[in-house]
Amino acid sequence: MAGARSSGVRSMAANSLPLAALLICTLLFLDPAAAAGEARSSYVVYLGDHAHGSRLGGLDAADLAALEEKAAGSHHDLLATILGDKDKAREAIFYSYTKHINGFAANLNAAEAAQLARLPEVVSVFPNRAQQQLHTTRSWQFLGLSGPDGVSRGASWRKAKFGEGIIIGNIDTGVWPESESFRDHGLGSVPKNWKGTCEKGQDDKFHCNGKLIGARFFNKGYASGVGAPSDDPTFNSPRDNGGHGTHTLSTAAGAPSPGASVFGLGNGTATGGSPRARVAGYRVCFKPVNGSSCFEADILAAFDAAIHDGVHVLSVSLGGVGDRYDYFEDSIAIGSFHAVRHGITVVCSAGNSGPKPSKISNVAPWMFTVGASTMDRKFSSDVVFNGTKIKGESLSSNTLNQKTPYPMIDSTQAAAPGRSEDEAQLCLKGSLDPKKVHGKIVVCLRGDNARVAKGEVVHEAGGAGMVLANDASSGNEIISDPHVLPATHVGFHDGLLLFSYLKIDKAPVGMIEKPTTSVYTKPAPYMAAFSSQGPSPVNPEILKPDITAPGVGVIAAWTRATSPTELDNDKRRVAYNAISGTSMSCPHVAGIAGLIKALHPDWSPAAVRSALMTTAIEVDNKGQQILNSSFAAAGPFERGAGHVWPSRSFNPALVYDLSPDHYLEFLCALKYNASSMALFSGGGKAAYKCPESPPKLQDLNYPSITVLNLTSSGTTVKRTVKNVGWPGKFKAAVRDPPGVRVSVRPDVLLFAKKGEEKTFEVKFEVKNAKLAKDYSFGQLVWSNGKQFVKSPIVVQTKAA
Ligand SMILES: *[C@@H]1O[C@H](CO)[C@@H](O)[C@H](O)[C@H]1NC(C)=O
Ligand SMILES: *[C@@H]1O[C@H](CO)[C@@H](O)[C@H](O)[C@H]1NC(C)=O
Ligand SMILES: *[C@@H]1O[C@H](CO)[C@@H](O)[C@H](O)[C@H]1NC(C)=O
Ligand SMILES: *[C@@H]1O[C@H](CO)[C@@H](O)[C@H](O)[C@H]1NC(C)=O
Ligand SMILES: *[C@@H]1O[C@H](CO)[C@@H](O)[C@H](O)[C@H]1NC(C)=O
Ligand SMILES: *[C@@H]1O[C@H](CO)[C@@H](O)[C@H](O)[C@H]1NC(C)=O
Repeated sequence: MAGARSSGVRSMAANSLPLAALLICTLLFLDPAAAAGEARSSYVVYLGDHAHGSRLGGLDAADLAALEEKAAGSHHDLLATILGDKDKAREAIFYSYTKHINGFAANLNAAEAAQLARLPEVVSVFPNRAQQQLHTTRSWQFLGLSGPDGVSRGASWRKAKFGEGIIIGNIDTGVWPESESFRDHGLGSVPKNWKGTCEKGQDDKFHCNGKLIGARFFNKGYASGVGAPSDDPTFNSPRDNGGHGTHTLSTAAGAPSPGASVFGLGNGTATGGSPRARVAGYRVCFKPVNGSSCFEADILAAFDAAIHDGVHVLSVSLGGVGDRYDYFEDSIAIGSFHAVRHGITVVCSAGNSGPKPSKISNVAPWMFTVGASTMDRKFSSDVVFNGTKIKGESLSSNTLNQKTPYPMIDSTQAAAPGRSEDEAQLCLKGSLDPKKVHGKIVVCLRGDNARVAKGEVVHEAGGAGMVLANDASSGNEIISDPHVLPATHVGFHDGLLLFSYLKIDKAPVGMIEKPTTSVYTKPAPYMAAFSSQGPSPVNPEILKPDITAPGVGVIAAWTRATSPTELDNDKRRVAYNAISGTSMSCPHVAGIAGLIKALHPDWSPAAVRSALMTTAIEVDNKGQQILNSSFAAAGPFERGAGHVWPSRSFNPALVYDLSPDHYLEFLCALKYNASSMALFSGGGKAAYKCPESPPKLQDLNYPSITVLNLTSSGTTVKRTVKNVGWPGKFKAAVRDPPGVRVSVRPDVLLFAKKGEEKTFEVKFEVKNAKLAKDYSFGQLVWSNGKQFVKSPIVVQTKAA
């Protein structure tokens, strides 16, 4: 495997629905009328989500009221089956949750509560107690897993046993074993079937425990590529020198760690998605050389080891930087194929090469490809000038003296002798004249060098602060960074306002406000501009990305070997850091995959992915379509099936399953020759033989449907769904892509038992070639009236 890959230190994160949070607070209500003598106490009965939850934004008040009344009635009916009569049920229930949360709070005795918990439709029943725990890494609250008080929505998290029994590995920059996030409190000894090991290499202090049960490093590919670095004492060890691996592994499965913050901002309990899972770190990325830090050979070795060791989920936040690689020349594609063959779910980052189309990486159909979006938290640090205030965000550790405004300058006006205005505009290294920027707030344009590096350039030239303004392509994507000086980041349009003030005013002055944490911000989520977009450059027949998850401003554990900015001259050290990238969204999904595995140990990687994709949500916390960073509606090439919604994915009703042989047939259909096939299927006597006529690419049983080159003669796509829930009748509904007619046959599926499979056909016809030009998008939904199994549809009509 030749060639180095950039680890793409991708960092980005997202957040929760205000409506739901409002309801969560009410769960603490204790009915004063509950009589102690009857040994009754209050319980919360959690039934999952309402099927109507994602439609709430589009309903008018009367429809909403009717839906809520119906939901409340169903709660009375359910409790009546236990209490024997509807009036008693009505009396016992003191809260019906009828919007997003489905459930109720009621006064019950212990026997009644236990009886309720055994009903199939009940997710969990738990006492209505007050808890102090804060789960404010925020993203898990945004994803509906935890409440602000750690109580209500914790129900589905608890049902998934917080990922207990699951082992999650990552392939990354290694791990900082001393981090609080890898404490093994209460976990007990290492599982007996674990075959991994704790390689210390040349680091005697490196250690594993009952949480961090394995660590290995693979640097031979790096050493042979560019030689061992002379300035990395950790090179021959699994110890994380860069922070990225510690961050991603703790996001997937870190133990709850209270009091985590970045310089006091975002203070709360940092936790991974599967907080009770065990973890293993596979180090393959080292000090970047010319932007590349992880080598193919090392990556493949890590996959090999991880499969052997016995991980259940692999989180892989690395990949190419928008280059096209065929699967047979891509160690991540090959390694992950083998992992998937062994039943391991492999979750990968989509890359940070957006918003240009078709720059997405990690696109093989056996990978789970994750884009990045925001959450409903901000680290506000606004800019004030000439009576105007524009919104900014920052995690700077020091702030300006807020009493008197500072002189401001457009960096273009501050070029150092011999440096161009263009270089100064971007605040490239050494491009600013200290005489011109001393004591001032310098306004720099985004692009080219790292955001925090611009801050360092301004700091070194003697500037007092920095405002980082977006260029047009980054739109409203604002990222809070732990800058080395007081600095903030503003959006494109606000930046234009500021630039025009600097141009007109003879002695411009302004202020950067001290950063503060705000939550429940709207809209959220929206797509990050950097999140790589489809269509897949390798295989446009498969929609990628698959899904989006929090990837902007994610707080998780960090290494002590480097600063939060990773700049050499920054001497600060932090236990937790906020970074952004699809690297951060990937481990969110890996952590949730761990929960699904804990609930459904026998599910294939394809079933796990299907569950998450078909239950993803397409609306934000304003009830409108998820937007892109210019605040226009985002499509499937940006957000895939939508935003991950864990609690619903635990019970998806139907799944689109796939076996390793289906992927091999897919490669046959791509006309891979025998030697390329052997990379995936093995060679020699046992070599896999392609069928004479493999199934069409569009018929791969994927949870999304893509039809390319649709002509007037139309086409038909096949899919098979497996019932993983209760027996029942499912009806198909379709939202046609503009100009295309989609019909489903049969459009009703009857399932008599769990595990049953049914096949159906989806027919595509061009209705109006003018409307259907290039790519257009629709949706297929199977529903039993309560659950919705949703698939995005992508159609490309052939230019006449
Ligand atoms: C974080 O919150 C905890 C609990 O509220 C508090 O004790 C601690 O001082 C806070 N830490 C910071 C850095 O604000
Ligand atoms: C890094 O890039 C420079 C310029 O392209 C080149 O001269 C140098 O050899 C490269 N270094 C390595 C280790 O590849
Ligand atoms: C500053 O604000 C005042 C009052 O709104 C306005 O009249 C003036 O044009 C502004 N100056 C600049 C340079 O934008
Ligand atoms: C957002 O979508 C609009 C409409 O498709 C498009 O014009 C714009 O370039 C997109 N912005 C980004 C940052 O992707
Ligand atoms: C198989 O395909 C690969 C990739 O296109 C090519 O490099 C190789 O030479 C082919 N092998 C044979 C035996 O045709
Ligand atoms: C679609 O058409 C293009 C150009 O005509 C061709 O290269 C491609 O192979 C076709 N794809 C499929 C799936 O038929």
